[in-house]
Amino acid sequence: MGVLKGKRALVTGGTSGLGRQIALAFAEEGAHVAVIGMNRERGREVVERLQEKCDLPDQQFLFESVDVSKKPQVNEVVDRLLAEWGGIEILVNCAGITRDTLFMKMAEEDWDQVIDTNLKSVYNLCHALVRPMIKARYGKIINISSVIGLTGNPGQVNYAASKLGMVGFSRSLAKELAPRNINVNCIAPGFFETPMTASLTDEQKERIIKKVPMGRLGEPKEIAHAAVFLASDRSDYITGQVLTVDGGMIA
Ligand SMILES: NC(=O)c1ccc[n+]([C@@H]2O[C@H](COP(=O)([O-])OP(=O)(O)OC[C@H]3O[C@@H](n4cnc5c(N)ncnc54)[C@H](O)[C@@H]3O)[C@@H](O)[C@H]2O)c1
Repeated sequence: MGVLKGKRALVTGGTSGLGRQIALAFAEEGAHVAVIGMNRERGREVVERLQEKCDLPDQQFLFESVDVSKKPQVNEVVDRLLAEWGGIEILVNCAGITRDTLFMKMAEEDWDQVIDTNLKSVYNLCHALVRPMIKARYGKIINISSVIGLTGNPGQVNYAASKLGMVGFSRSLAKELAPRNINVNCIAPGFFETPMTASLTDEQKERIIKKVPMGRLGEPKEIAHAAVFLASDRSDYITGQVLTVDGGMIA
C-alpha cells in the first residue's frame, strides 16, 4: 500500500465524521496530515490517533484550530504550514455545517453561515494553496459536496446552494488548472453516520434508507476510500468530476 507515501495533505473538518476518516486513511497510506477544525480537544484526539496508527518514522501530523470561513485565519495557517513543510500536495475541503429550516423562515444569518463555512471556505483554502501548487506543478484538490446539492431537499436551500456551488467552482478551477497538472474533483456523499446526521430521528433515517437502493447508510470509510483514490496518482487523468458515493441514491 502507501499510495500517498511522503505526500503532504491538509484536511479541513478533519476532527470529526468524514474528514476524520479521510485524515486516518491518508495517514495509513503514508501521507503527512495537517488537520484543520474548530475543536481543540477533538483535534488533539485525532492527532494522537494518527500517531498511534501510523508508525513510519518521519510521518508528521498536526492540528490547527482555524475558522475556515475567515480568510485571514486561513492565510496565516497555510503560510505557516508551507514554511514548515515546504509544500502541500493534497487539499481536502471537508469542513461543513447545516442550518436547516424552511426557506420562508430562513434568517439571513442561516444563509450566510452556511455559504461562508461550506463555500467561501473552499475559495479561502484553494486561493491560499493554488500558487504553491502551480509552482510545484502538482496538486490534488478534493471538495466534499453532497447529493443534496445535486437533487435539492426541502429545508436545505442554503446547504444545497453551497454544495452545488462547490461543483461549479470545482469544474471551473479544474479547467484552469489542468495544464498545470493540478486535479480538482468533488465527492458527493449520500447519507453517512456522522455527528452531522446524528440528530436525525430513527423515523427520518428509515425514510432515507428507503431511498437508498443498497438499503443502508454509508460508512465514513467508504468516503475515505474515494478520497484516497482522488488524492493518489491513480486518478491522474480525472479532473472536474463529481464522484457520487451514495449507495445508488441518484443512479
Ligand atoms: N454525513 C453525511 O451524511 C454527509 C452527506 C453529504 C455531505 N456531507 C459533507 O461532508 C462534510 C463532513 O460532514 P460530517 O458529516 O463529517 O460532519 P461533522 O459535523 O461530523 O464534521 C464537520 C467538521 O467541520 C468542521 N467545521 C465546521 N465549521 C467549521 C469552520 N467554520 N471552520 C473549520 N472547521 C469547521 C468541524 O469542526 C468538523 O470537524 C461536510 O461538508 C458535509 O456537508 C456529509
